[in-house]
Amino acid sequence: MPIKEFNTVSLIRKKREGGVLSREEIQYLIRAYTDDEIPDYQMSAFLMASFLNGLNTGEAAALTHSMLHSGIVADLSHVKGTKVDKHSTGGVGDKLSLILAPIVAACGVPVPMISGRGLGHTGGTLDKLESIPGFTVDVTLDRYKEILEKQNLVLVGQTEEIAPADKRLYALRDVTATVESIPLIAGSIMSKKLAEGIDALVLDVKFGSGAFMKKHEDAVKLAETLVGIGEEFGKETIAYLTNMEQPLGNAVGNWLEVKESIDCLNGGGPDDVMEITHLLAGTMIYLGREAATIEEGIEKSHEAIKNGSAMQKWIDIVEEQGGDTGVIIKPESYPAAKHIESVKAEQGGCITAMDAYAMGMVSVELGAGRRAKEDDVDPAAGFILHKKIGDKVEKDETIATLHTNNRNMLATAKTGIQQAMTIGQSAPETLRQITHRADKHGLHKYEG
Ligand code: URA
Repeated sequence: MPIKEFNTVSLIRKKREGGVLSREEIQYLIRAYTDDEIPDYQMSAFLMASFLNGLNTGEAAALTHSMLHSGIVADLSHVKGTKVDKHSTGGVGDKLSLILAPIVAACGVPVPMISGRGLGHTGGTLDKLESIPGFTVDVTLDRYKEILEKQNLVLVGQTEEIAPADKRLYALRDVTATVESIPLIAGSIMSKKLAEGIDALVLDVKFGSGAFMKKHEDAVKLAETLVGIGEEFGKETIAYLTNMEQPLGNAVGNWLEVKESIDCLNGGGPDDVMEITHLLAGTMIYLGREAATIEEGIEKSHEAIKNGSAMQKWIDIVEEQGGDTGVIIKPESYPAAKHIESVKAEQGGCITAMDAYAMGMVSVELGAGRRAKEDDVDPAAGFILHKKIGDKVEKDETIATLHTNNRNMLATAKTGIQQAMTIGQSAPETLRQITHRADKHGLHKYEG
């Protein structure tokens, strides 16, 4: 049935005044924007009106459906096995997809993964992958299917065929301060995940200063919304609520995070990264029917690191998608940023809190993210944290190392990191990394 035409300005005004748009009106907006009939400035106004006034359940459902059907839903029936993917709602230093995707694929579960670029203060899997020289995330539908069949894994971005509406809206939300909205996030995530051709999905829903949902209760709402949409479409969906009160791991920035992921795949890597990675990977292996329980899936995930099969899968997929495997095997051969400088503690004590949002913004300013849609990112930019919450620190001790090709940003970045770390006298309570699981049976406290 052809989609009815509407007056775009009237729809923006209606949303601005707090009105409720019909399914047809939302379908029109998404279709016309995807077809370049609505310019960015009008869509930005609509996004901001939706951000400020919210979208009700009916509008949110219409948004997800329209975004999903802006392209095709991939048919992956030629690939054997239960296809499972994972998506994060976004955080700082969140490189988990790079580690768990090869683990899960190496354990026999096909992983068709469509990711996004950096969004707001958070990094994006696509920018991280593209920091590997030659790695292409831009493929046709046929090539997407071919890579998955050959490697049991494919790591790409939204295309003109799959989730094209999200491709455009995502880039626009990144630079119009319209990210932190439950219906907009849900439409964005679920439209591309459902279009991939998956059978089941694992979600990492972040809460805390570095997440889009600062409050735990909002993250719970987002998790329940995402699980509800997944189940409505017949995909078994499990979400975990995980802590983003500080960056995950030590590295923040595209190549720096790839490098840390290589350490993890080689059996090292920070504990906070590996704890969540194994839980999410184990859940994917379970949903992919390669383990009878999540616990068994977690054991298989550990084994795939120990026996080297996950690292081998990572090398294979980098090669398959055109990347330089030389820098994966020898990360020290990667060209370093021109300016590498230490940030020192201004006083001694114990790190009691971090503003992970401010740290994400430091990384954007150093060049790892975009300020405008057309901006290129600097693959080498970012920082390494040497201290995390709970660590003791001496005055003038190095707390972070900045990496950038833009010398002008160094001074503000240094102050940014110093101000984002709170140094007190007594150790804070240990952070709980994973608090809850949400699935079709409801919300459960995570005791793991
Ligand atoms: N991840 C997405 O894909 N979209 C969002 O809006 C937020 C996180």
